Amino acid sequence: MRVIDLIIKKRNGAELSDDEIDFFIQGFTQGDIPDYQAAAWAMAIFLKGMTSTETVALTMAMVRSGKQLDLSSVAPIVADKHSTGGVGDKTTMLVAPLVAATGLPVGKMSGRGLGYFGGTIDKLETIPGFRATLSESEFRAGLAKVGLVITGQSSELAPADGKLYALRDVTGTVESLPLIASSIMSKKIAAGANCIVLDVKYGKGAFMKTLTEATALAEAMVAIGLGLGRKVRAVLSSMEQPLGYAVGNALEVREAIQTLQGHGPEDLLELAYLLGSQLLLMAGRAKDETEARVQLKTALESGAAFAKYKAFIANQGGDTSVLENPERLPQAPLIEELAAMQSGYIQNIDAEKIGMVAHELGAGRKSKTDPIDPAVGLILHHKVGDRVEVGEPLVQIHASQQLAIENVRRLLQTAYTFS
Ligand code: URA
Repeated sequence: MRVIDLIIKKRNGAELSDDEIDFFIQGFTQGDIPDYQAAAWAMAIFLKGMTSTETVALTMAMVRSGKQLDLSSVAPIVADKHSTGGVGDKTTMLVAPLVAATGLPVGKMSGRGLGYFGGTIDKLETIPGFRATLSESEFRAGLAKVGLVITGQSSELAPADGKLYALRDVTGTVESLPLIASSIMSKKIAAGANCIVLDVKYGKGAFMKTLTEATALAEAMVAIGLGLGRKVRAVLSSMEQPLGYAVGNALEVREAIQTLQGHGPEDLLELAYLLGSQLLLMAGRAKDETEARVQLKTALESGAAFAKYKAFIANQGGDTSVLENPERLPQAPLIEELAAMQSGYIQNIDAEKIGMVAHELGAGRKSKTDPIDPAVGLILHHKVGDRVEVGEPLVQIHASQQLAIENVRRLLQTAYTFS
């Protein structure tokens, strides 16, 4: 088989066979297929799409690029949650400890930032000492000891996705149904959980801009999971405005900590309860959503979820003193306010533009090997529907350079519409 022929075949819109997809994925993982050919192939998939048979084959080829964990000896039921990506989406840092605190173990593989969306791993790594690259035995040990473990992509679990994800991030090939579905589901299948909830986002600040596209993505992922014997549910959630108030890695960790301490934004907490309750239902731990929500609320209000988060951070080497003193998280040297340009009710906060601003400040990557700036980002002071007066602070900008602040001010202003 020749790599160039497979690129041309996909470019021409033909269906690739299972063997052809496997050949490509294993060759790319092992370094035999260079990035430029993989980028061309990903772009061909982006433009021509894939059939559902191809998408399943791509998922399974990515799973086979590494190990597939069987966690049954550690816990009979393991829960996992994954989001398709959104702006200010720190939900994993809530759902995982909430669910784990009810006694249902959570073991999950998360991603880094993609496009202008932050990734859970980049966020958690802003906690000094936190280790997100775990070996298989560390993953199992974390699950057994704490009941909550989160790892990033490694050379052991779905390494093909790790490589392809980083390449897609910088080659304009992110917003593709088959690439997103296979990326997410390969991680879920490899990491071994048997109950999986997918948070499929739609709207301005999501990869899927419409509910119809998001539904198609949700259906594709649920079908892959069910076909492989997992329990899977998808929740469709709006990403028209950012989730919560904080956007940026350490800023989002701080907001997650505040939420676990009982002082979180309503929209974030509501989504966390919704996702968490689906996991409890799938695992048979609650008879209906009301009962599941009571369990999660109790975990939050009793402090059990916060204690679980702390134990999880400690187990992965993180400095837990930052959980009590979040000001010890990385802090940007420059903090400035953007004032409201007019009085009125906030009609819309364009999540895409907010994400782009955070990315521009350095919260995301422009090329594959770029480091991220953990401290930069935005704190929005309001949500859609709030009344503001001209001149009052609208957004707090956390930046490392004055020039960056000047550069983003205009774009930030255009992210808001008033009525
Ligand atoms: N999350 C992932 O893990 N992969 C994608 O492609 C998009 C969101």
